[in-house]
Amino acid sequence: MRIMQRSAFKRSNDSTRIIITAIMGISFGIFIGISISSVHLSKISLLSGVKSSFDVPMTEIGIAHTIFDGSSGTKNIEALRSATLPKINVSSNPRGAELLPPGIVVSESDLYLRRLWGDPSEDLKKKPKYLLTFTVGYDQRHNIDAALKKFSDDFAILLFHYDGRTSEWDQFEWSKNAIHVSVKKQTKWWYAKRFLHPDIVSAFEYILIWDEDLGVEHFDGDKYMNLVIKHGLEISQPGIEPNNGLTWEMTKRRGDREVHTVTQERPGWCSDPHLPPCAAFVEIMAPAFSREAWRCVWHMIQNDLVHGWGLDFALRRCVEMLSS
Ligand SMILES: *[C@@H]1O[C@H](CO)[C@@H](O)[C@H](O)[C@H]1NC(C)=O
Repeated sequence: MRIMQRSAFKRSNDSTRIIITAIMGISFGIFIGISISSVHLSKISLLSGVKSSFDVPMTEIGIAHTIFDGSSGTKNIEALRSATLPKINVSSNPRGAELLPPGIVVSESDLYLRRLWGDPSEDLKKKPKYLLTFTVGYDQRHNIDAALKKFSDDFAILLFHYDGRTSEWDQFEWSKNAIHVSVKKQTKWWYAKRFLHPDIVSAFEYILIWDEDLGVEHFDGDKYMNLVIKHGLEISQPGIEPNNGLTWEMTKRRGDREVHTVTQERPGWCSDPHLPPCAAFVEIMAPAFSREAWRCVWHMIQNDLVHGWGLDFALRRCVEMLSS
């Protein structure tokens, strides 16, 4: 019931001010093993695949490996077309791709825009490190335009349009480089489940999934990300200005520290001081997920989830997994 009350309360606020100086996060996770090179990986998966596949002479596997190892992109597909390849069945490949040589399997993507002609290496002058998404209606264009001034070119912008109006946004210069996804009358978790699959957004270190009605006058995207990285926050949100109709004590900005992960609630609101909303709690209006945490949260978003109320109470599950 508390969740419902909170939601009704939140709806009545037009705008919530968020501030850079205080954030809170669920946990301090440690990243390990991200830097294994892809070449190395493909060798490992090839070897483990050999064991479980049909009998294939090692020499033929060697040939397949030579063809695909080291080359990249579309060259691999050309090789696949022309070479006489042994029949293989690599169980360590992603589901559905078992019949492909490991060297050709590309299971992840990004949202970087590509040129139609010319040199692909010139597609991107700078690769954005973070993905910032807003679920928007055209009526909120001025608020979104103001918000985006707080984010540097380290952030790729993705807008989900729930009112079907997309081309009008091109009045803003930044809109021409943004990704626009238009599906009428859906909520942000509906879009996130369908368009932010972890394999699709894997190029981004952090994914921010924000509401459109945030006031960010005192916010700075780069400073915020620096704090998130400095404190190793897997799931976090910016602090909210104290005198702006807060729902939860936890989300309140604290002047005395950069980050907090626990708080004191009003009496009777926390069954356990180590559980949300007293600890390990981030609200769903402006969360920032690490790539690893998002890989978990995406799976937790149920397919029929609409508003997502209550999801914030469960997010910590994804961080317990990371830090264990
Ligand atoms: C590949 O191997 C698995 C067992 O590891 C087997 O279940 C599957 O049917 C094989 N696929 C093909 C197409 O042979």
